[in-house]
Amino acid sequence: MNEQLSRFMENRADDLTPVLEGTVRRLNAPSVLKESMLYSLLAGGKRIRPILLSAVLHDLGKVHPAEMHIGAAVELIHTYSLIHDDLPSMDDDDLRRGKPTNHKVFGEAAAILAGDALLTESFGIIGRAPALSPEDKLALIGLLVKASGAEGMVGGQMLDIQSEEETLTEKGLEQVHRLKTGALLSFPVEAGAVLAGATMPERENLLRYARHIGLAFQIQDDILDVEGDEKLTGKKSGADAEQGKNTYPSVLTLEGAKQKLAHHHTEAVKAISFLRSPEPMLRLIADYIVYRAS
Ligand code: IPE
Ligand code: IPE
Ligand code: MG
Ligand code: MG
Ligand code: MG
Repeated sequence: MNEQLSRFMENRADDLTPVLEGTVRRLNAPSVLKESMLYSLLAGGKRIRPILLSAVLHDLGKVHPAEMHIGAAVELIHTYSLIHDDLPSMDDDDLRRGKPTNHKVFGEAAAILAGDALLTESFGIIGRAPALSPEDKLALIGLLVKASGAEGMVGGQMLDIQSEEETLTEKGLEQVHRLKTGALLSFPVEAGAVLAGATMPERENLLRYARHIGLAFQIQDDILDVEGDEKLTGKKSGADAEQGKNTYPSVLTLEGAKQKLAHHHTEAVKAISFLRSPEPMLRLIADYIVYRAS
């Protein structure tokens, strides 16, 4: 990975972890529920969603005291989505972030409830976030509801499960990927634009960038399921084919999937050409998403 991006990611992740951990530790709740939440939260994800939010602020030359709080809010929802995605009734996976999946350790009931609690607490964090007007909090909550709920990630997960029994067209598959993964990657980019007070044209270009890297991210996830190294991905390879999933390699062939990936990378890079710094963090992230092995 590019050294500058690697330093940026480490630095932001170091600031994020205490916010994630503190959010759970402060809860007056059954200890097994808190343990189950912390187990998945601290299992070592890439933190790409909070990093995207930080990168928008960085590239627009802005800082905001709520950066880590809004980043934590999306990471909580993302982690809940993974816990539920791995359940036997969903993708039925045993390995996540290099560790046994949440339900393998805590049982299905605790895994479902840990996911429920992470989802709910996410909105609590936004409510308590510092230096944000009530209007901005409501705007961010509205964006997160749309990205994570029935019109976003949850709706995409429904389509993903439903289409296990059929073969999707490329257009249909793109829609599943936009919803199940793209929406929750677009949220932090939009939220970063809100925190930075970006202009409308900046916001539109950033959103176009987010749409392309959101698709690229899931295409690379599908490719890694075919040819990735389990030791690096921390997930079992070949699981998509086993489950009869529609993926970019299954619909377009591996070569076709790689061409689409390159196309979305090019378009994402074009969308942020308005950023004046010679090497924007968002550009490095676009490169990372395409070349990542984990
Ligand atoms: C995995 O997301 C699920 C998808 C949306 C493809 P990540 O690849 O961001 O997972 P972590 O957070 O790094 O474990
Ligand atoms: C998951 O897609 C998207 C989510 C909303 C969690 P996948 O099912 O492909 O994610 P992995 O490969 O299990 O991480
Ligand atoms: Mg899935
Ligand atoms: Mg899965
Ligand atoms: Mg996958």
